[in-house]
Amino acid sequence: MTKKIRVAVLFGGKSNEHSISVASAGGVMGAIDSAKFEVIPVGITKLGQFVPFNAPPEKLSLSEGLKTIQFQGESLRFSLDGSKELFLADSSGKESSLGAIDVVFPVLHGQFGEDGTIQGFLELAGIPYVGNGVLASAVAMDKQFSKTLFAAAGIPTPEFEVVTANQIVNDPESALERLHQLKLPVFVKPARAGSSVGITKVKEAADLPKAVAAALTHDNKVIVEVGVEGREIECAVLSGRGDEPERVSVAGEIVVTGREFYDFEAKYTDSDAAKLTCPAEISDQELKQMQQLAKKAFRALGCQGLARVDFFLTKDGFMLNEINTMPGFTSISMFPRCFKESGISFPELVTELIELALES
Ligand SMILES: Nc1ncnc2c1ncn2[C@@H]1O[C@H](COP(=O)(O)OP(=O)(O)O)[C@@H](O)[C@H]1O
Ligand SMILES: [Mg+2]
Repeated sequence: MTKKIRVAVLFGGKSNEHSISVASAGGVMGAIDSAKFEVIPVGITKLGQFVPFNAPPEKLSLSEGLKTIQFQGESLRFSLDGSKELFLADSSGKESSLGAIDVVFPVLHGQFGEDGTIQGFLELAGIPYVGNGVLASAVAMDKQFSKTLFAAAGIPTPEFEVVTANQIVNDPESALERLHQLKLPVFVKPARAGSSVGITKVKEAADLPKAVAAALTHDNKVIVEVGVEGREIECAVLSGRGDEPERVSVAGEIVVTGREFYDFEAKYTDSDAAKLTCPAEISDQELKQMQQLAKKAFRALGCQGLARVDFFLTKDGFMLNEINTMPGFTSISMFPRCFKESGISFPELVTELIELALES
């Protein structure tokens, strides 16, 4: 029998998407091929401690309630000396080696997980990891820079302005003046967040300052985008093996009812507010256009491994909203679902992602 590949699955983390990451990790660990891979679950607390975590994957699903990883005396440490070794420290601090890790699957969303920081750490540690590298992760996390690159690649994306906390403190009039140039309604967002936290749809100019202040509580940089009317269509992208081109899934659609937009509640707590459909009803020509644009966007940011690419389908065609470099991975999430509908099952997808990481 060949030795199993040892995969450390990282989840939880310091971002406000901590609990979503735990649920995503449940999806990945539930789908992983245990004949090929040995999973070493590595929880990260909200304070950033790496801790052992053992629970059956199905207990981590969102339907079991939001989970928080707690420090309980034991901690884990990745060696930075290139040995890829993982150490367990007991509550007295005494360390023992858990052996070398072959690959890390960082199932982390948001800040310190999806923004290039953990990727940089894994580069330093010399451990291969699933998914996007430092640059693509960092750029995709920042809506200002990703949209700038999309525009440079000729990919339509809603018009926007950026304001910083400093500008609002030092010269609020001219900062707001710029924002007032944008056609209402606008979406006011923290530049580097996720799960719709801190986002407000603003229909009247008088409500702009409050929305900017709300977004500034999450980030010191805020992006204000012209609201577009259209369907929310997204797809999943997987790198090709070797020199093969990327694989792009069929389209999925999010239909929001009874709420203004796909906000945090519609995503996670109000189960009636959003319906996820896959495959979405779009024409063959639209599907082709979407897949081409998704590939172009993936390349524009230098993505690697995987990404979920989110569009608006307007009466004038597709506009790109954003790229997620570590999308949701629960069993009902769009990323695994879109690939399932495209002929790649969840277990096959996880195998593919790990093997891509080991190949690069
Ligand atoms: N420019 C826009 N026009 C219309 N709807 C938007 C726009 N920007 C965001 N939204 C709505 O807000 C949701 C969250 O915005 P998004 O930029 O995707 O933030 P996050 O990174 O938190 O997912 C979108 O799924 C969509 O429903
Ligand atoms: Mg989004």
